[in-house]
Amino acid sequence: MSDTIRIVVVGSGYVGLVAAVCFAEMGHNVVCVDNDQRKVDALRGGDSLIHEDYLPELLERYRNAKVHFTSDLSEATRDAEVIFIAVGTPQSGSGVADLSYVEAVASEIARSLTTYTVIVEKSTVPVYTNEWIRRVMERNGVARNLFDVVSNPEFLREGTAVADFLHPDRIVVGTDSARAAAVLSKIYEPLTNGSYYAQVDAIDGFRSAHEPPPLLLTSTKSAEIIKHASNAFLALKISFINAVSNLCEAADADVEQVARGMGMDSRIGPRFLRPGIGYGGSCFPKDVAAFRCVAEQLGVDFALLSEVEAINADQKRRFLSKVRSALWTLRGKKLGVLGLAFKGGTDDIRESPAIELVQMLIAEGCSIKAFDPAAMARAEQVLPPGPNLRYVSDAYAASNDVDALLILTDWAEFSCLDLQRLNMLMRYPIVVDGRNLYDPDLMLENGITYFSVGRPAKHHVHEFAAVGA
Ligand code: UGA
Repeated sequence: MSDTIRIVVVGSGYVGLVAAVCFAEMGHNVVCVDNDQRKVDALRGGDSLIHEDYLPELLERYRNAKVHFTSDLSEATRDAEVIFIAVGTPQSGSGVADLSYVEAVASEIARSLTTYTVIVEKSTVPVYTNEWIRRVMERNGVARNLFDVVSNPEFLREGTAVADFLHPDRIVVGTDSARAAAVLSKIYEPLTNGSYYAQVDAIDGFRSAHEPPPLLLTSTKSAEIIKHASNAFLALKISFINAVSNLCEAADADVEQVARGMGMDSRIGPRFLRPGIGYGGSCFPKDVAAFRCVAEQLGVDFALLSEVEAINADQKRRFLSKVRSALWTLRGKKLGVLGLAFKGGTDDIRESPAIELVQMLIAEGCSIKAFDPAAMARAEQVLPPGPNLRYVSDAYAASNDVDALLILTDWAEFSCLDLQRLNMLMRYPIVVDGRNLYDPDLMLENGITYFSVGRPAKHHVHEFAAVGA
């Protein structure tokens, strides 16, 4: 086996596109397939389509060279050694993952296989998917010795996808075939043996030649469960701290102090303990629902997951109540909104709690001036501007003459605003922060009445008198 592997990646979404350019960065030859010709043309022309650090640079470096883009799956797969399936697994009505794209890709691959090929699931899929892929191949007449199926889940986060891919906590390879395991180990060798990190132009991250990532070999089914269980556990951590934040509000305690104290226990750890308006994005909501459905289908009572979802949904309603209690009534109120993306650092608005809250506030009769550093173009597609919604060019324009300013996304730039300027601009200096970006005392020092999550509200006395008047 040569060091350079011929890889096909099917799907050019976050996972597929990032995997494609990162495999090229690791020295492999890649063909990235997407059935959307417009996407293929854009990628060939160097437009990365998504907002992601390092992606434009890597795309520029490898497009039409070590990474080719095409819409012709059968042509691409013909002489591939490894095919990564990274197509969408959307949520169907009941929460079950819709695997029709995976099935369609598997059937098409089956029609063009002529030599031994490793088929890798990179999309997040339920635990029985590898068996289905195997069955689809066999039903389409592919001999069993011509392929193996591997589960190699991806743990990258949007916004830091490239760095996460190249500097992973772990690489999970789930397969029941030693031959396929050897191929996957070869692909990831530049990371696992540390040689990638020794390169002068390596993408920065926490891994180094002395501390390369481990590769964990498991059964195929275990790898599938590792992915769902990891996302569900992280979502659970967020819902847990959100429930604790509600308790803190009721008891007049400070959830930030509580989270710090909990996170210092190395068994708990400090990450994913940030309270807020609930988790969103294309992964957690979908994956928690899909994992719950997998458990149901397998006859396992995993009611904990329903509770994680219920707390998450409730967190948005509680924030709306908080805005109402800050302003007394909502009809006719002018609000500034900072943030539309589901989290900072991305232009993705899928399942964004910020978008949902804007919709709720408009339904309550508020008029909104919204700003997001990257997600406004996408937001306009689902929330077109109108008499009650305007998109503005920066945080200060969003604050101008409003009854209150709401912080809905944790963009770094929202955590260092000029507070005196905000105070001067707003009609009433009231900030309702769904992401706890500020020290409440600092807000108070700047004359701003400040509501946040799981911490006592800080009322600025003059302003409070004005509102009450
Ligand atoms: C998540 C996982 O973190 C990745 O490991 C995984 O690979 C990915 O899903 C996936 O399955 O593809 P991502 O959706 O990009 O990544 O975003 P996160 O950074 O995990 O944030 C998810 C949501 O949780 C965001 O809405 C964020 O604001 C929220 N969050 C996160 C909190 O409310 N509190 C926290 O402490 C952390």
